[in-house]
Amino acid sequence: MAIQIPRGTQDILPSQVGTWELIENKAKEICHKYQYKEIRTPIFEHTELFHKSGETTDIVQKEMYSFKDRGDRDLTLRPEGTPAVVRSYVENKMYGDPNQPVKLFYNGPMFRYERPQAGRYRQFVQFGVEALGSQDPAIDAEVISLAMEVYQSLGLKHLKLVINSLGDKESRIAHREALIKHFKPRIHEFCADCQNRLEKNPLRILDCKKDRDHELMKSAPPIFEFFNEESKQYFDQVLAYLDALGIAYEVDPTLVRGLDYYNHTAFEIMSNAEGFGAITTLCGGGRYNGLVQEMGGPETPGMGFALSIERLIAALDAEGITLQTEAKVDCYVVALGDEAKIPAMVLLQQLRKAGYSADKDYLDRKMKAQLKAADRMKAKFVAILGEDEIKMNKVVVKNMENGEQVELSISNFISEFERLGR
Ligand code: HAM
Repeated sequence: MAIQIPRGTQDILPSQVGTWELIENKAKEICHKYQYKEIRTPIFEHTELFHKSGETTDIVQKEMYSFKDRGDRDLTLRPEGTPAVVRSYVENKMYGDPNQPVKLFYNGPMFRYERPQAGRYRQFVQFGVEALGSQDPAIDAEVISLAMEVYQSLGLKHLKLVINSLGDKESRIAHREALIKHFKPRIHEFCADCQNRLEKNPLRILDCKKDRDHELMKSAPPIFEFFNEESKQYFDQVLAYLDALGIAYEVDPTLVRGLDYYNHTAFEIMSNAEGFGAITTLCGGGRYNGLVQEMGGPETPGMGFALSIERLIAALDAEGITLQTEAKVDCYVVALGDEAKIPAMVLLQQLRKAGYSADKDYLDRKMKAQLKAADRMKAKFVAILGEDEIKMNKVVVKNMENGEQVELSISNFISEFERLGR
Protein backbone atom coordinates (compact mmCIF):
# COMPACT_ATOMS: atom_id res chain seq x y z
CA MET A 1 0.00 0.00 0.00
CA ALA A 2 1.22 3.49 -0.77
CA ILE A 3 2.53 5.46 2.19
CA GLN A 4 0.01 7.93 3.58
CA ILE A 5 0.34 11.30 5.25
CA PRO A 6 0.88 11.17 9.06
CA ARG A 7 -2.24 11.52 11.20
CA GLY A 8 -3.14 15.10 12.07
CA THR A 9 -1.17 16.66 9.23
CA GLN A 10 -2.29 17.90 5.85
CA ASP A 11 -0.91 18.71 2.44
CA ILE A 12 -1.55 22.23 1.28
CA LEU A 13 -2.16 21.53 -2.39
CA PRO A 14 -1.28 23.92 -5.23
CA SER A 15 -4.96 24.84 -5.57
CA GLN A 16 -5.00 25.90 -1.89
CA VAL A 17 -1.62 27.58 -1.60
CA GLY A 18 -2.94 30.80 -3.16
CA THR A 19 -5.38 31.23 -0.28
CA TRP A 20 -2.61 30.62 2.24
CA GLU A 21 -0.31 33.12 0.54
CA LEU A 22 -3.01 35.72 0.45
CA ILE A 23 -3.79 35.31 4.15
CA GLU A 24 -0.15 35.28 5.18
CA ASN A 25 0.64 38.33 3.07
CA LYS A 26 -2.35 40.20 4.46
CA ALA A 27 -1.28 39.41 8.04
CA LYS A 28 2.29 40.52 7.29
CA GLU A 29 1.07 43.72 5.67
CA ILE A 30 -0.98 44.52 8.79
CA CYS A 31 2.06 43.81 11.00
CA HIS A 32 4.10 46.26 8.96
CA LYS A 33 1.42 48.92 9.44
CA TYR A 34 1.53 48.32 13.19
CA GLN A 35 5.35 48.28 13.10
CA TYR A 36 5.84 44.64 14.11
CA LYS A 37 8.98 43.08 12.58
CA GLU A 38 9.31 39.48 11.49
CA ILE A 39 11.40 37.01 13.48
CA ARG A 40 12.21 33.47 12.39
CA THR A 41 13.29 30.99 15.04
CA PRO A 42 14.17 27.28 14.66
CA ILE A 43 11.49 24.62 14.31
CA PHE A 44 13.09 22.72 17.21
CA GLU A 45 14.43 23.99 20.52
CA HIS A 46 15.91 22.51 23.68
CA THR A 47 13.08 20.67 25.45
CA GLU A 48 13.94 22.53 28.64
CA LEU A 49 12.75 25.78 27.08
CA PHE A 50 9.15 24.59 27.00
CA HIS A 51 9.31 23.10 30.49
CA LYS A 52 10.51 26.45 31.78
CA SER A 53 7.58 28.22 30.16
CA GLY A 54 4.91 26.04 31.78
CA GLU A 55 5.35 22.77 33.58
CA THR A 56 1.68 22.04 34.31
CA THR A 57 0.09 22.61 30.91
CA ASP A 58 -1.30 19.82 28.75
CA ILE A 59 0.96 21.00 25.97
CA VAL A 60 4.13 20.42 27.97
CA GLN A 61 2.95 17.32 29.80
CA LYS A 62 1.26 15.39 27.03
CA GLU A 63 1.54 16.97 23.63
CA MET A 64 5.16 17.61 22.80
CA TYR A 65 7.09 15.93 20.03
CA SER A 66 10.29 15.44 22.01
CA PHE A 67 13.26 13.40 20.90
CA LYS A 68 16.94 12.88 21.43
CA ASP A 69 19.23 13.77 18.55
CA ARG A 70 22.31 11.75 17.64
CA GLY A 71 24.34 13.86 20.06
CA ASP A 72 22.03 12.81 22.92
CA ARG A 73 20.47 16.29 23.21
CA ASP A 74 16.86 16.61 24.35
CA LEU A 75 15.02 18.53 21.66
CA THR A 76 11.37 19.33 20.95
CA LEU A 77 9.49 20.42 17.84
CA ARG A 78 8.04 23.74 18.96
CA PRO A 79 4.41 23.45 20.12
CA GLU A 80 3.99 27.26 20.12
CA GLY A 81 5.98 30.35 19.25
CA THR A 82 6.14 32.43 22.42
CA PRO A 83 8.92 30.61 24.37
CA ALA A 84 11.27 30.63 21.37
CA VAL A 85 10.66 34.33 20.71
CA VAL A 86 11.37 35.10 24.36
CA ARG A 87 14.51 32.93 24.27
CA SER A 88 15.73 34.78 21.21
CA TYR A 89 14.86 38.14 22.78
CA VAL A 90 17.04 37.29 25.80
CA GLU A 91 19.82 35.58 23.83
CA ASN A 92 20.13 38.48 21.40
CA LYS A 93 19.80 41.08 24.17
CA MET A 94 16.93 42.79 22.39
CA TYR A 95 16.10 44.47 25.70
CA GLY A 96 19.09 46.71 24.92
CA ASP A 97 17.62 47.84 21.59
CA PRO A 98 16.97 51.60 21.62
CA ASN A 99 13.60 50.99 19.92
CA GLN A 100 11.28 49.83 22.67
CA PRO A 101 8.98 48.01 22.99
CA VAL A 102 10.37 45.30 20.71
CA LYS A 103 7.45 44.31 18.47
CA LEU A 104 7.82 41.00 16.66
CA PHE A 105 5.73 38.69 14.51
CA TYR A 106 6.20 35.13 13.26
CA ASN A 107 4.54 32.66 10.98
CA GLY A 108 5.37 28.99 10.86
CA PRO A 109 4.53 25.38 11.69
CA MET A 110 3.93 24.25 15.27
CA PHE A 111 3.55 20.67 16.50
CA ARG A 112 1.29 19.22 19.17
CA TYR A 113 0.45 15.59 19.76
CA GLU A 114 -3.28 16.21 20.12
CA ARG A 115 -6.27 14.13 19.15
CA PRO A 116 -6.92 15.29 15.59
CA GLN A 117 -10.38 16.58 14.66
CA ALA A 118 -11.78 19.41 12.56
CA GLY A 119 -9.66 22.47 13.36
CA ARG A 120 -7.18 20.51 15.45
CA TYR A 121 -4.03 19.22 13.82
CA ARG A 122 -0.73 17.79 14.93
CA GLN A 123 1.09 20.17 12.63
CA PHE A 124 -0.49 23.56 12.13
CA VAL A 125 0.68 27.03 11.17
CA GLN A 126 0.62 29.76 13.76
CA PHE A 127 0.81 33.39 12.90
CA GLY A 128 1.62 35.32 16.07
CA VAL A 129 2.89 38.59 17.47
CA GLU A 130 4.79 39.42 20.66
CA ALA A 131 5.37 42.92 22.06
CA LEU A 132 8.14 42.93 24.66
CA GLY A 133 9.13 45.72 26.98
CA SER A 134 5.96 47.69 27.63
CA GLN A 135 3.53 47.54 30.51
CA ASP A 136 1.19 50.03 28.86
CA PRO A 137 -2.42 48.76 28.58
CA ALA A 138 -2.44 50.49 25.17
CA ILE A 139 -0.15 47.69 23.94
CA ASP A 140 -2.74 45.11 25.04
CA ALA A 141 -5.34 46.99 23.03
CA GLU A 142 -2.98 47.30 20.06
CA VAL A 143 -2.27 43.55 20.01
CA ILE A 144 -5.98 42.70 20.22
CA SER A 145 -6.83 45.24 17.57
CA LEU A 146 -4.14 43.81 15.26
CA ALA A 147 -5.60 40.32 15.65
CA MET A 148 -9.11 41.60 14.91
CA GLU A 149 -7.87 43.47 11.86
CA VAL A 150 -6.32 40.30 10.40
CA TYR A 151 -9.73 38.61 10.48
CA GLN A 152 -11.76 41.62 9.44
CA SER A 153 -9.47 42.49 6.53
CA LEU A 154 -10.30 39.08 5.05
CA GLY A 155 -14.01 39.76 5.31
CA LEU A 156 -14.89 37.79 8.47
CA LYS A 157 -17.86 39.20 10.35
CA HIS A 158 -18.99 36.57 12.84
CA LEU A 159 -16.32 37.18 15.43
CA LYS A 160 -16.52 37.32 19.19
CA LEU A 161 -13.76 38.74 21.34
CA VAL A 162 -13.72 37.26 24.83
CA ILE A 163 -11.49 38.86 27.42
CA ASN A 164 -10.53 38.35 31.04
CA SER A 165 -7.84 39.41 33.44
CA LEU A 166 -5.84 36.98 35.50
CA GLY A 167 -4.49 39.77 37.69
CA ASP A 168 -0.90 40.38 38.76
CA LYS A 169 1.29 38.07 40.84
CA GLU A 170 -0.10 39.23 44.17
CA SER A 171 -3.72 38.78 43.06
CA ARG A 172 -2.92 35.40 41.58
CA ILE A 173 -1.32 34.17 44.81
CA ALA A 174 -4.41 35.17 46.78
CA HIS A 175 -6.67 33.52 44.18
CA ARG A 176 -4.52 30.40 44.17
CA GLU A 177 -4.92 29.97 47.91
CA ALA A 178 -8.67 30.39 47.61
CA LEU A 179 -8.87 27.83 44.80
CA ILE A 180 -6.87 25.25 46.76
CA LYS A 181 -9.19 25.79 49.72
CA HIS A 182 -12.22 25.44 47.42
CA PHE A 183 -11.19 22.23 45.63
CA LYS A 184 -9.06 20.39 48.21
CA PRO A 185 -11.81 18.75 50.29
CA ARG A 186 -13.33 17.12 47.18
CA ILE A 187 -10.34 16.86 44.87
CA HIS A 188 -10.69 13.04 44.83
CA GLU A 189 -13.84 13.56 42.72
CA PHE A 190 -11.71 15.11 39.98
CA CYS A 191 -9.52 13.56 37.27
CA ALA A 192 -5.87 12.64 37.87
CA ASP A 193 -4.70 15.74 36.00
CA CYS A 194 -6.73 18.03 38.23
CA GLN A 195 -5.46 16.27 41.35
CA ASN A 196 -1.98 16.83 40.07
CA ARG A 197 -2.68 20.49 39.35
CA LEU A 198 -4.17 21.29 42.77
CA GLU A 199 -0.92 22.29 44.42
CA LYS A 200 1.06 23.14 41.29
CA ASN A 201 -1.38 25.37 39.44
CA PRO A 202 -5.01 25.19 40.63
CA LEU A 203 -6.08 27.81 38.08
CA ARG A 204 -5.64 25.19 35.38
CA ILE A 205 -8.33 23.06 37.03
CA LEU A 206 -10.83 25.61 35.74
CA ASP A 207 -9.69 24.79 32.22
CA CYS A 208 -10.23 21.02 32.58
CA LYS A 209 -12.43 19.56 29.87
CA LYS A 210 -13.21 16.31 31.70
CA ASP A 211 -14.50 17.89 34.90
CA ARG A 212 -16.11 20.90 33.24
CA ASP A 213 -19.55 20.07 34.66
CA HIS A 214 -18.56 19.37 38.25
CA GLU A 215 -20.57 21.58 40.61
CA LEU A 216 -17.41 22.92 42.26
CA MET A 217 -16.37 24.41 38.92
CA LYS A 218 -19.31 26.76 38.82
CA SER A 219 -18.95 27.83 42.44
CA ALA A 220 -15.17 28.35 42.23
CA PRO A 221 -14.15 31.83 43.40
CA PRO A 222 -13.56 34.08 40.37
CA ILE A 223 -10.20 35.80 40.04
CA PHE A 224 -11.63 39.33 40.01
CA GLU A 225 -12.64 38.98 43.65
CA PHE A 226 -8.93 38.85 44.46
CA PHE A 227 -7.74 41.73 42.29
CA ASN A 228 -5.63 44.30 44.05
CA GLU A 229 -6.08 47.92 43.01
CA GLU A 230 -3.34 47.76 40.38
CA SER A 231 -4.80 44.69 38.65
CA LYS A 232 -8.26 46.17 38.65
CA GLN A 233 -7.05 49.45 37.24
CA TYR A 234 -4.97 47.75 34.56
CA PHE A 235 -7.92 45.72 33.31
CA ASP A 236 -10.20 48.77 33.35
CA GLN A 237 -7.70 50.66 31.24
CA VAL A 238 -7.42 47.87 28.68
CA LEU A 239 -11.22 47.81 28.39
CA ALA A 240 -11.34 51.61 28.11
CA TYR A 241 -8.91 51.46 25.19
CA LEU A 242 -10.99 48.78 23.48
CA ASP A 243 -14.13 50.88 23.98
CA ALA A 244 -12.40 53.92 22.49
CA LEU A 245 -11.25 51.88 19.47
CA GLY A 246 -14.77 50.57 18.94
CA ILE A 247 -13.74 46.94 19.51
CA ALA A 248 -16.66 45.00 20.98
CA TYR A 249 -15.83 42.39 23.62
CA GLU A 250 -17.38 40.14 26.23
CA VAL A 251 -15.76 39.80 29.66
CA ASP A 252 -15.66 36.15 30.66
CA PRO A 253 -14.30 35.57 34.19
CA THR A 254 -13.86 31.85 33.45
CA LEU A 255 -11.42 32.36 30.60
CA VAL A 256 -8.06 31.13 31.91
CA ARG A 257 -6.23 29.93 28.74
CA GLY A 258 -4.24 26.72 28.45
CA LEU A 259 -0.78 28.10 29.17
CA ASP A 260 0.89 28.89 32.47
CA TYR A 261 2.65 32.13 31.74
CA TYR A 262 -0.26 34.55 31.57
CA ASN A 263 -1.10 37.37 33.94
CA HIS A 264 -3.34 40.41 33.57
CA THR A 265 -4.97 40.32 30.12
CA ALA A 266 -6.06 37.01 28.57
CA PHE A 267 -8.20 36.93 25.44
CA GLU A 268 -9.58 34.72 22.71
CA ILE A 269 -11.29 35.46 19.45
CA MET A 270 -13.96 32.96 18.52
CA SER A 271 -16.04 32.40 15.43
CA ASN A 272 -19.77 32.46 16.02
CA ALA A 273 -20.58 31.71 12.40
CA GLU A 274 -23.37 29.22 11.98
CA GLY A 275 -22.07 25.81 11.02
CA PHE A 276 -18.60 26.41 12.38
CA GLY A 277 -17.20 23.25 14.02
CA ALA A 278 -17.03 22.45 17.72
CA ILE A 279 -13.70 24.18 18.21
CA THR A 280 -14.63 27.82 17.94
CA THR A 281 -11.47 29.51 19.20
CA LEU A 282 -9.63 31.10 16.32
CA CYS A 283 -6.97 32.95 18.23
CA GLY A 284 -5.62 33.24 21.75
CA GLY A 285 -3.23 35.46 23.60
CA GLY A 286 -2.47 37.56 26.59
CA ARG A 287 0.09 39.22 28.79
CA TYR A 288 3.06 37.34 30.23
CA ASN A 289 5.02 39.71 32.43
CA GLY A 290 7.22 37.13 34.17
CA LEU A 291 8.32 34.99 31.23
CA VAL A 292 11.39 36.94 30.09
CA GLN A 293 12.81 36.80 33.60
CA GLU A 294 11.99 33.10 33.80
CA MET A 295 14.10 32.64 30.67
CA GLY A 296 17.07 34.40 32.24
CA GLY A 297 16.47 37.95 31.00
CA PRO A 298 15.79 41.15 32.88
CA GLU A 299 12.31 41.84 34.23
CA THR A 300 10.39 42.62 31.05
CA PRO A 301 6.66 42.69 30.39
CA GLY A 302 5.26 40.90 27.34
CA MET A 303 2.00 40.69 25.43
CA GLY A 304 1.03 38.73 22.35
CA PHE A 305 -1.29 36.35 20.52
CA ALA A 306 -1.22 33.50 18.06
CA LEU A 307 -3.77 32.28 15.55
CA SER A 308 -3.71 29.30 13.27
CA ILE A 309 -4.16 29.73 9.56
CA GLU A 310 -6.06 26.41 9.44
CA ARG A 311 -8.80 27.70 11.77
CA LEU A 312 -8.88 31.03 9.98
CA ILE A 313 -9.55 29.21 6.70
CA ALA A 314 -12.24 27.12 8.44
CA ALA A 315 -13.87 30.39 9.57
CA LEU A 316 -13.73 31.76 6.01
CA ASP A 317 -15.39 28.55 4.78
CA ALA A 318 -18.09 28.79 7.45
CA GLU A 319 -18.89 32.35 6.35
CA GLY A 320 -18.82 31.37 2.67
CA ILE A 321 -15.90 33.68 1.86
CA THR A 322 -13.70 32.72 -1.08
CA LEU A 323 -10.54 34.71 -1.49
CA GLN A 324 -9.62 35.63 -5.06
CA THR A 325 -6.36 33.85 -5.63
CA GLU A 326 -6.31 32.51 -9.18
CA ALA A 327 -2.87 32.98 -10.72
CA LYS A 328 -3.41 34.33 -14.23
CA VAL A 329 -1.47 33.34 -17.33
CA ASP A 330 -0.75 36.35 -19.52
CA CYS A 331 0.21 34.41 -22.60
CA TYR A 332 0.22 30.79 -23.74
CA VAL A 333 2.56 30.08 -26.64
CA VAL A 334 1.24 27.55 -29.15
CA ALA A 335 3.91 25.97 -31.35
CA LEU A 336 2.99 24.09 -34.54
CA GLY A 337 5.53 21.81 -36.17
CA ASP A 338 9.09 20.96 -35.29
CA GLU A 339 10.57 24.15 -36.67
CA ALA A 340 8.45 26.24 -34.32
CA LYS A 341 9.68 24.50 -31.19
CA ILE A 342 12.85 26.47 -30.56
CA PRO A 343 11.43 29.90 -31.57
CA ALA A 344 8.43 29.20 -29.28
CA MET A 345 10.75 28.50 -26.38
CA VAL A 346 12.61 31.74 -27.10
CA LEU A 347 9.35 33.75 -27.18
CA LEU A 348 8.34 32.15 -23.91
CA GLN A 349 11.60 33.16 -22.28
CA GLN A 350 11.26 36.73 -23.61
CA LEU A 351 7.76 36.97 -22.16
CA ARG A 352 8.88 35.72 -18.76
CA LYS A 353 11.91 38.00 -18.66
CA ALA A 354 9.64 40.95 -19.48
CA GLY A 355 7.58 40.10 -16.41
CA TYR A 356 4.67 38.16 -17.95
CA SER A 357 3.48 34.83 -16.66
CA ALA A 358 3.63 32.51 -19.62
CA ASP A 359 3.58 28.84 -20.51
CA LYS A 360 3.59 26.48 -23.49
CA ASP A 361 2.83 22.91 -24.41
CA TYR A 362 5.36 20.21 -23.51
CA LEU A 363 3.36 17.18 -24.61
CA ASP A 364 3.57 17.60 -28.40
CA ARG A 365 -0.15 18.18 -28.59
CA LYS A 366 -2.10 19.22 -31.65
CA MET A 367 -3.19 22.84 -32.09
CA LYS A 368 -6.70 22.19 -30.77
CA ALA A 369 -5.45 20.50 -27.62
CA GLN A 370 -2.94 23.29 -27.05
CA LEU A 371 -5.69 25.89 -27.32
CA LYS A 372 -7.78 23.87 -24.90
CA ALA A 373 -4.87 23.84 -22.45
CA ALA A 374 -4.58 27.63 -22.80
CA ASP A 375 -8.30 27.92 -22.09
CA ARG A 376 -8.05 25.74 -18.99
CA MET A 377 -5.25 27.93 -17.69
CA LYS A 378 -7.41 31.01 -18.38
CA ALA A 379 -4.68 32.52 -20.54
CA LYS A 380 -5.40 36.10 -21.53
CA PHE A 381 -3.54 35.83 -24.84
CA VAL A 382 -2.40 32.98 -27.03
CA ALA A 383 0.63 33.44 -29.30
CA ILE A 384 0.51 31.03 -32.26
CA LEU A 385 3.73 30.18 -33.99
CA GLY A 386 3.73 27.91 -37.06
CA GLU A 387 6.32 27.23 -39.75
CA ASP A 388 4.74 29.78 -42.15
CA GLU A 389 4.71 32.47 -39.50
CA ILE A 390 8.37 31.89 -38.74
CA LYS A 391 9.26 32.33 -42.40
CA MET A 392 7.42 35.67 -42.44
CA ASN A 393 8.82 36.79 -39.07
CA LYS A 394 5.26 36.81 -37.72
CA VAL A 395 3.41 35.53 -34.73
CA VAL A 396 -0.38 35.49 -34.45
CA VAL A 397 -1.64 36.74 -31.08
CA LYS A 398 -5.21 36.06 -30.09
CA ASN A 399 -7.01 37.83 -27.27
CA MET A 400 -8.87 35.00 -25.56
CA GLU A 401 -11.37 37.33 -23.92
CA ASN A 402 -12.75 38.99 -27.07
CA GLY A 403 -11.39 36.69 -29.81
CA GLU A 404 -9.53 39.53 -31.59
CA GLN A 405 -6.47 38.47 -33.52
CA VAL A 406 -3.38 40.50 -34.51
CA GLU A 407 -0.08 39.73 -36.18
CA LEU A 408 3.07 40.80 -34.36
CA SER A 409 6.64 40.54 -35.57
CA ILE A 410 8.81 37.90 -33.94
CA SER A 411 11.88 40.10 -33.85
CA ASN A 412 10.03 42.91 -32.08
CA PHE A 413 7.61 40.72 -30.19
CA ILE A 414 7.80 42.01 -26.64
CA SER A 415 7.43 45.71 -27.39
CA GLU A 416 4.49 45.00 -29.73
CA PHE A 417 2.91 42.61 -27.21
CA GLU A 418 3.30 45.24 -24.52
CA ARG A 419 0.98 47.54 -26.50
CA LEU A 420 -1.83 45.00 -26.30
CA GLY A 421 -2.01 45.66 -22.57
CA ARG A 422 -1.77 43.16 -19.74
P1 HAM B 1 -2.73 28.75 22.12
O1 HAM B 1 -4.05 29.16 22.63
O2 HAM B 1 -2.16 27.47 22.61
O3 HAM B 1 -1.73 29.95 22.45
O4 HAM B 1 -2.76 28.70 20.56
C1 HAM B 1 -3.14 29.83 19.81
C2 HAM B 1 -3.94 29.45 18.60
O5 HAM B 1 -3.27 28.44 17.85
C3 HAM B 1 -5.29 28.83 18.90
O6 HAM B 1 -6.25 29.79 19.18
C4 HAM B 1 -5.57 28.12 17.59
O7 HAM B 1 -5.99 29.05 16.58
C5 HAM B 1 -4.20 27.64 17.19
N1 HAM B 1 -4.03 26.22 17.56
C6 HAM B 1 -3.59 25.71 18.72
N2 HAM B 1 -3.53 24.38 18.66
C7 HAM B 1 -3.94 24.03 17.42
C8 HAM B 1 -4.10 22.79 16.73
N3 HAM B 1 -3.77 21.62 17.31
N4 HAM B 1 -4.54 22.81 15.46
C9 HAM B 1 -4.84 23.97 14.85
N5 HAM B 1 -4.70 25.17 15.45
C10 HAM B 1 -4.27 25.20 16.71
C11 HAM B 1 -0.42 29.99 22.11
O8 HAM B 1 0.11 29.19 21.39
C12 HAM B 1 0.31 31.19 22.66
N6 HAM B 1 1.72 31.08 22.26
C13 HAM B 1 -0.31 32.47 22.15
C14 HAM B 1 0.40 33.68 22.66
C15 HAM B 1 1.30 34.43 22.01
N7 HAM B 1 0.24 34.20 23.86
C16 HAM B 1 1.03 35.24 23.99
N8 HAM B 1 1.69 35.38 22.88
